[in-house]
Amino acid sequence: MIITPSQIKEIKKEAEREIEKAQDVLSLDNLWKKYLGRKEGKMNDILRGIKDLPLDQRPQIGALANQVSQKLEEKINQAKEKISQGKNKSSVKRDFTLPGRKIDLGHEHPLTQMRWKVAEIFSSLGFEILDGPEMETEYYNFEALNIPDGHPARDMWDTFFLKGFSQKKIKTTESEGKLLLRTHTSPMQIRFMEKRQPPLRACVIGRCFRNEATDVSHEHTLYQVEGFCVDEDINVSNLIHTLRSFLSLLFGQEVKIRLRPSYFPFTEPSFEVDFSCLNCGGRGCSVCGQSGWVEMLGCGMIHPRVYEAIGYPAGKYQGFAFGIGLDRLLMMLRQIDDIRWFHSGDLRFIRQF
Ligand code: PHE
Repeated sequence: MIITPSQIKEIKKEAEREIEKAQDVLSLDNLWKKYLGRKEGKMNDILRGIKDLPLDQRPQIGALANQVSQKLEEKINQAKEKISQGKNKSSVKRDFTLPGRKIDLGHEHPLTQMRWKVAEIFSSLGFEILDGPEMETEYYNFEALNIPDGHPARDMWDTFFLKGFSQKKIKTTESEGKLLLRTHTSPMQIRFMEKRQPPLRACVIGRCFRNEATDVSHEHTLYQVEGFCVDEDINVSNLIHTLRSFLSLLFGQEVKIRLRPSYFPFTEPSFEVDFSCLNCGGRGCSVCGQSGWVEMLGCGMIHPRVYEAIGYPAGKYQGFAFGIGLDRLLMMLRQIDDIRWFHSGDLRFIRQF
């Protein structure tokens, strides 16, 4: 093998080019093996070949080869150090005058926005806004509302009963019965009237739970808006006026309503209320099932048995109560086609509001 100084210099140049390009420690280790390694290193091949050179050339070539090996070793080490200090990226200058990164705060869930809106409207109509427990007793959810144990009307609310909660721990008495997740907000009528004397006007917006098969318009978790008003001279026309005012304020336009006879154990008489479909103006479309009317709520005049359970004097007070499904109302307002979107956690849905 004939070794010339220019051959050695060629190897040096090639190695230097590769070292410069190397981005990480691993590739530098590989380059070390390629050029300086004992077995396959290119510089070692040279050193091994020196013994075959004519005597007078050996010192010069030997010295040059050693010098180049040393230099390459140094370069590889320097390059490694640069990488470990992150200095290989120092060409990216930092500009400390740039504005900071924006922290995205998100926004309220459409149902929460709706709750605020409804609360605002009812307080403008003079209603107090109440909150109540989501875990209820059978007494408040059913019995005090004139739905005794075993009464078929209990079938109207498919109930989640709670096991494993000690009644003593949350201070219920024997007569308050089993614990459950409230199926409607009506128990708050009782809780509030037990504490206060008429005249009273109150609105409860809260979560209710039903053990139902879910579909586009049914969920196991839903929001209700309960409103009630009790005084000595309250009648159905007060109820109609309140509902019409509420809907007009909510939709920002005059809304027609109609009452149909219905049944709830805690109201007498009871009604189902529809409002004229805003999508088609009452002409009939797919939203209202071609009828021109959309079902909205149950309501009625509070049953004397309810006052009796509370302990109000018989025959002294009259009042109305209504319960609106908040989710369905929002679906109507914003043209949402499936109630299950609300709890889906799907940001593509949430971000539209
Ligand atoms: N609580 C009833 C329901 O969940 C609705 C309602 C409320 C009816 C108040 C009459 C009066 O279906």
